[in-house]
Amino acid sequence: MPARRYCSSLTGYCVVSMSFKPEILTNKTSSIMHKKAILTAGLLFTAILVIVIACTDSNKKDSDNKMGGTGTTTTTNGEHPFPDFGFMVSPQVAADSGFQVFKLSQDYPATVPTTPLPDFFTIDFKKDWRKYLLAVQQYCFEGNTDIDFRVENNKTRNWYHMPWQHYGPNGREGFHGLTKEAPVQPKQLASGQTYPTSGAWAVGFFNDMAGYTIGQVWQDHDNPNVKAMGTGFKNGTVLFKLLFLSMPQPIAEQQVPFLQNGIWWDAYATYNFGSSERTHIKAALIQMDVMIRDERAPNGWVFGNFQYNGKMNKANKWENLVPVGLMWGQDPENNTDFSNKQPTKTIINTKLLETIINPDTTELPPTHLGWNGRLNGPVDNPMSSCYSCHATAEYPQGSPISPLFDADTLKVDPPGSAGWMRWFSNLKCGTPFDGPDYQSTDFCLQMAEAVQNFTTWKNTEGGLFYTDYNKKPAPKAMKAEDNVPPPAPKKVFPLDRRNI
Ligand code: HEC
Repeated sequence: MPARRYCSSLTGYCVVSMSFKPEILTNKTSSIMHKKAILTAGLLFTAILVIVIACTDSNKKDSDNKMGGTGTTTTTNGEHPFPDFGFMVSPQVAADSGFQVFKLSQDYPATVPTTPLPDFFTIDFKKDWRKYLLAVQQYCFEGNTDIDFRVENNKTRNWYHMPWQHYGPNGREGFHGLTKEAPVQPKQLASGQTYPTSGAWAVGFFNDMAGYTIGQVWQDHDNPNVKAMGTGFKNGTVLFKLLFLSMPQPIAEQQVPFLQNGIWWDAYATYNFGSSERTHIKAALIQMDVMIRDERAPNGWVFGNFQYNGKMNKANKWENLVPVGLMWGQDPENNTDFSNKQPTKTIINTKLLETIINPDTTELPPTHLGWNGRLNGPVDNPMSSCYSCHATAEYPQGSPISPLFDADTLKVDPPGSAGWMRWFSNLKCGTPFDGPDYQSTDFCLQMAEAVQNFTTWKNTEGGLFYTDYNKKPAPKAMKAEDNVPPPAPKKVFPLDRRNI
């Protein structure tokens, strides 16, 4: 775990997790660098000690207690800032190399934004699906493509990030805020793709309307209130995500032809998805996801997807992201078990009434889509769909995001079964997947993950516990009725994306 400080607004005390991430200390590009790192760590240690002492001074003003990491003050609502990222080269290496560093856009609007609905809300997404998708893409690109999606500097409109994505082994890195998402299987992207260990890394962005909702949940940074989601995001909410592939550039350009003429981002990540050893690598833009809370959609959300195709050779390379399609429902009656796991061509299922796929094979490279042709992107799981995973988003997470990621669930709910089809129903926006004991995070998996990360951290402070290693055997039953086992505690599922 990285060094982390937590100041309680209740007690006024700050706690520092001293377990520095090893890569911050051992990133030894040279022995000099190593010495510098030790020096930096020493300075950091001293600085943190000073902060701890300052923070525990009970005579200090409240706002002082809430001061954040080194160099930052408070957010606009007077809270200590959320950490920006969890994995990065040392500050010294970044400074010496002139690297730009990711900054969490976290000044969430305190009141409902009065900006007009985006223009594409006048386009019929079923009839003019392509025009709609390209207009959504432009809305997400404006003011962002020329600043490398450092959205806090966008001059056209405000965009925000979700807090608490820095935490845990899949946490945000510090070049572009990418989180570690899912492994990518050989031949999932193209027939010549044999590289065995690549993965998907991504960063999500939230428009002002969405930022307002994040701010409501996280008004008190030490006490997220998921119930503030109520029935969910407001009409006009736009979320988008850029996804990158971790594969060495010469291999990617040879094995995945549509990545030629690509956009490559610096990332503190790994070419071996199974490894937790991160280094400075480059990852290729491969996919863009969009989600729009649009009250014209029968269930509240429209999902859209774009795949990178360098052959388009657009002047603005970001526009090489070509439409894959969109979906607003799951065709819940359709239970045929089919997937195109190793695509040599895109197989469009014309029976689907609530998914539209781009039929233009001159622009869309062969792609696998989702389960039986529902919408999914190239680095998504071919046995799932956008809607399917996202409808499960709730706190606590009472079901896996797909039966594929939990052995017990998969045994009970195999593909095509009635149980499996629960993941392919048309759950309405803002409805908890597992009933009223759960709070829906309205299809937003980062929100579910953020609150889950916070709760895990709050309960464990990132440490391990003696009691987990010294479990007492259950006491022997004295009477027959004592044999009745207590109700099992509710299982909470990780938001994991690895097939079991
Ligand atoms: C296998 C499950 C799965 C599938 C399929 C999937 N997603 Fe996601 N998605 C996630 C998870 C988990 C997160 C949260 C963590 C992260 O950002 O990766 C997420 C995050 C996002 C975000 C950021 C906002 C949010 O909800 O947290 C967007 C936007 C998004 N996905 C859109 C899509 C679209 C569009 C598709 C289909 C093209 C899709 N997703 C398919 C699991 C999935």
